[in-house]
Amino acid sequence: MRTGEPIPAQVWSDLEKADAILFGAVGDPRLDDAAYLAGVLLRLRFELDLYVNLRPAKLFDDRLSPLRREDRRKMDLLIVRENTEGLYVGMGGRFKKGTEHEVAIQEDLNTYAGVTRTLEYAFGAANREVVMVDKSNAMTHAGGLWQQQWKAVSKKHPKVKTRHLYVDAAAMQLVRDPTQFDVIVTGNLFGDILSDLTAELIGGMGIAPSGNVNPETKRGLFEPVHGTAPDIAGRGVVNPIGAILSASMMVRHLGHTEMATAIEGAVESAIRAGECTRDVGGSLSTSECGDAVAKRLRD
Ligand code: IPM
Ligand code: MG
Repeated sequence: MRTGEPIPAQVWSDLEKADAILFGAVGDPRLDDAAYLAGVLLRLRFELDLYVNLRPAKLFDDRLSPLRREDRRKMDLLIVRENTEGLYVGMGGRFKKGTEHEVAIQEDLNTYAGVTRTLEYAFGAANREVVMVDKSNAMTHAGGLWQQQWKAVSKKHPKVKTRHLYVDAAAMQLVRDPTQFDVIVTGNLFGDILSDLTAELIGGMGIAPSGNVNPETKRGLFEPVHGTAPDIAGRGVVNPIGAILSASMMVRHLGHTEMATAIEGAVESAIRAGECTRDVGGSLSTSECGDAVAKRLRD
């Protein structure tokens, strides 16, 4: 604060000589978060080449885990994940491939239009609040665009409350109390990661549905979040609910709101009755579970 230098030269040379550094925490509301982080913590990591970050997670006592709490389980949230940009575009390359001097670059592409339309969708989908998730303290260019457009779009939706979380804090909050969230909007990679976390919070990958939509063209692709699970294929143990709920999202997208609600209701009732597959505590096979849902739809 006194000198304006994040780490004064004398301190830096002491740090360089140290066998180990015990670090407190960085940040002060009076300072630019990103610049300060880059000048202190990220500088230390990069320039001292501290290339492995270890984060042990050992539970010392059952009672400390928030997942045990009944009141933290009534969750119903939507992740709106930007789906066509970010680190997924495949821009970049491998230079000097196959040598020990290889350089691999993976570009994080964020466009004004792509970010804005995703944010618009999120605000339109919210019932009470949009939480915008990024990593703008460490990834300032992409984060800056998300921040700028988030503020602009939120002004157009004064009735929707809004809040920002860095992605690491969002992951923590999702486990601490997932009931606090309504809509989370974020970029492609963070959305991918957080949606596996939320899938597990609702009963696992077997249950989680997803939709890939374009609200302008009305195109949509609906799929369970899980993959093909080749290791258990053909044994009748796969949970069909992720796929069934994806179909429910699809008919909702097509305008059949009542049908969508009915499918969801049938799934909820089957799960509550324990008429489901083993991964979610039942004893039914894939087709029996499908039948249990279908039967309720017919009734
Ligand atoms: C998902 C999947 C995909 C993704 C993989 C298979 C590329 O994990 O749909 O979440 O990362 O988008
Ligand atoms: Mg994924």
